[in-house]
Amino acid sequence: MVRLVGDGVENPANAAALIEAARMFAVPCGFRDSRGLAGQLPDISTVDTDGLLGQRIVAVDNAPGAESVYRTAPAPPGASVVVGNERRGIRPDVLRAAARTVHIPMPGRGVNTLNVATAAAVALYYLLDAHGRRQARAPRPESHRPALLLAALRDHVEAGSSLRSAAAFGWPVVTVDDREKVWFGTPRPVRTEARAAARSHRNPLRVAPAGDAWSPPPGTRVVVCGPDVDGPPLHRTELTGPGTVLVVPDGDGWSAPPDAEFARVAVPGEPGRYRLLTGIVLAEAARQLGPRPAGAARPPRRGLSYGSALAHSAPEADLVLPWELLEY
Ligand SMILES: C[S@@+](CC[C@H](N)C(=O)[O-])C[C@H]1O[C@@H](n2cnc3c(N)ncnc32)[C@H](O)[C@@H]1O
Repeated sequence: MVRLVGDGVENPANAAALIEAARMFAVPCGFRDSRGLAGQLPDISTVDTDGLLGQRIVAVDNAPGAESVYRTAPAPPGASVVVGNERRGIRPDVLRAAARTVHIPMPGRGVNTLNVATAAAVALYYLLDAHGRRQARAPRPESHRPALLLAALRDHVEAGSSLRSAAAFGWPVVTVDDREKVWFGTPRPVRTEARAAARSHRNPLRVAPAGDAWSPPPGTRVVVCGPDVDGPPLHRTELTGPGTVLVVPDGDGWSAPPDAEFARVAVPGEPGRYRLLTGIVLAEAARQLGPRPAGAARPPRRGLSYGSALAHSAPEADLVLPWELLEY
C-alpha cells in the first residue's frame, strides 16, 4: 500500500480535503508538519523528516523535468506519494530524495496549478490504476474539447476549486448550474474589481450561468460523470468529441436528460468532495484530448468552440481572473 504525504501543507481546510483524497483511494495520509498544522488539527498523523526521506518517494509537483502522471508507472507498494505547500510546493530535500517526480500536465493559459488536495486525488487516480485507459487523441485536441456543465453546486469553495481546475486543464469557458446560489449568489470580495480587470486581462475564465431550465441543444451528447452513476468507468468512456457536454453534478440533485450517457468515477474508497471529483473527471478528459500540439499558441480564432457556443446564449457570464482562482 502507498501513503499520501502533505509536505508543509498549511491551510487546515486543504489538509482536511487531503485526508479525504487519501480516503477515496483507501490509503493512509500523513503530514510533514513544518507549518504548525497540528496546532489547528491535533488529530492529524505526522511524519518526521527521517521517516519520510528514508522511504521510496514519488513527488507530485510541476518541477522541471517531471514526467507526466498520465504516462508514468504505478507507484510501488510502500511508496510515499508527496504533495507540497500551497504556495511554495514540495521542499527541495524531498524533491532531491524522490525516486521520481510526476506532474499533472496543465494546458491552461493563466492558471498552472491545481488545489493541493485536487492534485493529490488526480495523482493517486493515475498512480494507483494504470490499466485499460483509452488512447489519447491527436492532433487537433481543441476541436474535440467537450463543453463543461458543473451542476447543482452546493459549496462556494468546492465550486471555486473546480473552476480553478477547469481553467488549469484548458477550459476557457464553463457553464454553471447555480441553483443554490453558491457562486453567482455569493459576493466574492474582489468580484467587482475582478469584472473590471477581466475586461483587459488576457486569460479570464468565462463562467456562464445555466439558467433555471437548462437543457442541452438537440444533437448534444450528454455524459454525466459521478461516483454513484450506473455506467462504465470514466477511463473507458469517450469523454471528448464535438457536440459533447460533460456534466459533473455535486450530489444527486440534478436530473439527467433521458438519452444521457453515464461514466462512473470508480475509486476503491469513499467518494470524495466535489473538487476531487471534478479534478479527476477533467484530468481524464484532458488526457483523452491529448497534449496541445507544439506551436498551437492559441485556440482557433474563427468560429466558437462547442462550449463557447453554448455559453454564448447565457444572459450574463462572469469573468474570473486566474489570480482569483488561485485563492481556491
Ligand atoms: C498550489 S501547488 C504549489 C504551487 C507553487 N507555487 C509551485 O509552483 O510549486 C501545491 C501543491 O499541489 C500539487 N500540485 C498542484 N498542481 C500540480 C500539477 N499540475 N502537477 C503536479 N503537482 C501539482 C503539488 O504537490 C504542489 O506542491
